[in-house]
Amino acid sequence: MQPHEIMFLLDEADQWIEANRNRAKSDKRLEGLTQINAFFENSTRTLLSFEIAGKRLGADVVNMHAAQSSVKKGETLIDTAMTLNAMRADVIVIRHMSSGAVRLIAGKVDCPVLNAGDGQHEHPTQALLDAVTIRRRRGSIAGQRVVICGDILHSRVARSNILALTALAAEVRVCAPSTLMPAGIEAMGVTPFSDFDKALEGADVVMMLRVQNERMAGGFIPSNSEFHLRYGLTPKRLERAPGALVMHPGPMNRGVEITSSVADSAQSAITEQVEMGVAVRMACLDVLTRRARGVEGWA
Ligand code: CP
Repeated sequence: MQPHEIMFLLDEADQWIEANRNRAKSDKRLEGLTQINAFFENSTRTLLSFEIAGKRLGADVVNMHAAQSSVKKGETLIDTAMTLNAMRADVIVIRHMSSGAVRLIAGKVDCPVLNAGDGQHEHPTQALLDAVTIRRRRGSIAGQRVVICGDILHSRVARSNILALTALAAEVRVCAPSTLMPAGIEAMGVTPFSDFDKALEGADVVMMLRVQNERMAGGFIPSNSEFHLRYGLTPKRLERAPGALVMHPGPMNRGVEITSSVADSAQSAITEQVEMGVAVRMACLDVLTRRARGVEGWA
């Protein structure tokens, strides 16, 4: 995505932040459209926020949970996609455990498809909601020194954030033990660190990531306590970046990558990230259905 396209979506999301704080939150612009959320992997924040976003815009929202679907009977991903298409969905939101699955489905259906996270590849709406949060709290994204720390190797959140934040001229540092750092990550325009204390010097934003055990085969870290000792965000460690904004996409493993006292502190924007998630997903649903609704205005 080009920087102006990202900024366009951030600006579109801004209008929904205030609207969502009103008692009456509904808007009918997607009335008559069918939104299918097809989730092949567990989710709390992304699924709920896409459902809330679609309902607030007036769409008919249907959730397909893979665990209760015919996927369990051996149906292929392409057959599932063609089934959703035959039901004349107007927009499909997909989460899948395999990288590239969303693109595969997008090539088989007639409507816009939104990526709600695919394997280790991308989680674009997470990066957008993180960018909205940073812009609101720090005033801008350009020039901000953002440290992303944790399981960089398996993280689609890290990948999407690196793409978005570097495109918007932030200075991005990534920090992880060597086993959790992708080889050649410098090519993405970031600076890698293995020493978290050094990475934190002068940070404006510290984004912590969960160790994603479900995407690991074998031992990438000696133990959770060892990981916490070297890479956990504690109050003492945060003193190296006084005033930095603390972020986490969730779900958190408290006591591993972040302590509760930091996660729940005044420096934390973690619940605000969740709030921004609804606004960003409303913006994406609105913009991506504009052509079908005969409305101008996709970047
Ligand atoms: N941040 C995120 O994607 O959370 P969920 O897995 O709960 O959707």
